[in-house]
Amino acid sequence: MLLQKATAAVSTPSSGLQGTAEQRESVQYSNPTMSAPVPTPLPTGFMLEGYRIERQISCGGFSIVYLAHDANEMPVAVKEYLPQTLARRGSDGSRVEPLEDHEAEFNRGLACFFEEARALNILQHEHVVRVLNFFRANDTAYMVMELERGRTLRDHVRVHRGRPGETAFRSLFSGLLDGLGAVHQQGLLHLDIKPANIWLRCDMAPVLLDFGAARFAVDIGPPAPRAMYTPGYAAPEQYHGDYTLGPWTDIYAVGACMYATLAKSAPQAADARLIDDQLAPARQRFSDHYPPRLLVAIDECLRLDPARRPPSAEALKSALANAASSGWSAWVRTLRNRLQS
Ligand SMILES: Nc1ncnc2c1ncn2[C@@H]1O[C@H](COP(=O)(O)OP(=O)(O)OP(=O)(O)O)[C@@H](O)[C@H]1O
Ligand SMILES: [Mg+2]
Repeated sequence: MLLQKATAAVSTPSSGLQGTAEQRESVQYSNPTMSAPVPTPLPTGFMLEGYRIERQISCGGFSIVYLAHDANEMPVAVKEYLPQTLARRGSDGSRVEPLEDHEAEFNRGLACFFEEARALNILQHEHVVRVLNFFRANDTAYMVMELERGRTLRDHVRVHRGRPGETAFRSLFSGLLDGLGAVHQQGLLHLDIKPANIWLRCDMAPVLLDFGAARFAVDIGPPAPRAMYTPGYAAPEQYHGDYTLGPWTDIYAVGACMYATLAKSAPQAADARLIDDQLAPARQRFSDHYPPRLLVAIDECLRLDPARRPPSAEALKSALANAASSGWSAWVRTLRNRLQS
């Protein structure tokens, strides 16, 4: 079984450091029809298999997410498979129609979307988005999720001034690694971990979202063209086929998210790093604020050679746990920062 956004074609490698933060954080595609019109959402009040659509929350390249209510008036999030470049809303306002000549691709993506929902429905973990139901309707597929409150890590980093405290940082990423470990134990890889796909609940507990790029690890055989990647967060093996994808690929992305949380921008893209690595190690760049072992753990995740990264989410989680500052060194660092400011 193969789970991936099969609808996206592989992109030519990006030019690394160029582009806005927004561009760096969006998935890259090479589909020439990418400028397709934004699809019309389902109207307010639309009844979808017992769920009442309230309003659109978000519209991405592959799907629309809605706020809806179930039969007991419980709010839920409903994700609709509607890839902009391959399909449009029909004139009846509900059915999804594949564009001419894109039917096969649309159907492949639809099957993947359905499998993504099935896999998540089985996986129940407090740090992984909970899929309550999934079904086919309107000639497409839907995933009903528990409605999360809060905001993405990307939005949090944008509005939050200054860097996170060491304890908050470690607790955020160890929660995320807990969820990721469960995902990997299912034999699934996420393959698009980035700040925009990490949800922070109001109590700052992280939730892994958007498994649209996911694949079953067991099905990842010899290198093949990769379907999609997000520059800055995607591991080098997602650009070229010299290495097999595996948990180490998600570990690179987690390292990139940790780096981006401290730097407030994505690290240099991996394809550019392979040519001319200009990424300043975290242990140099942030040494005034965080303990060396924590920064070394980030740098190890970001190694270009997959074999030199932490081997599993659990290993990285315990590296973070062991990286806590001693009370004395934290005190010295705080004092030094105060004197410098
Ligand atoms: N369970 C949820 N609860 C609340 N909001 C959600 C939930 N799932 C998704 N969202 C909202 O929808 C946005 C997009 O979700 P998601 O990342 O799953 O899809 P996407 O990036 O649009 O996916 P695609 O690339 O497939 O189009 C999130 O950033 C969030 O604002
Ligand atoms: Mg997303």
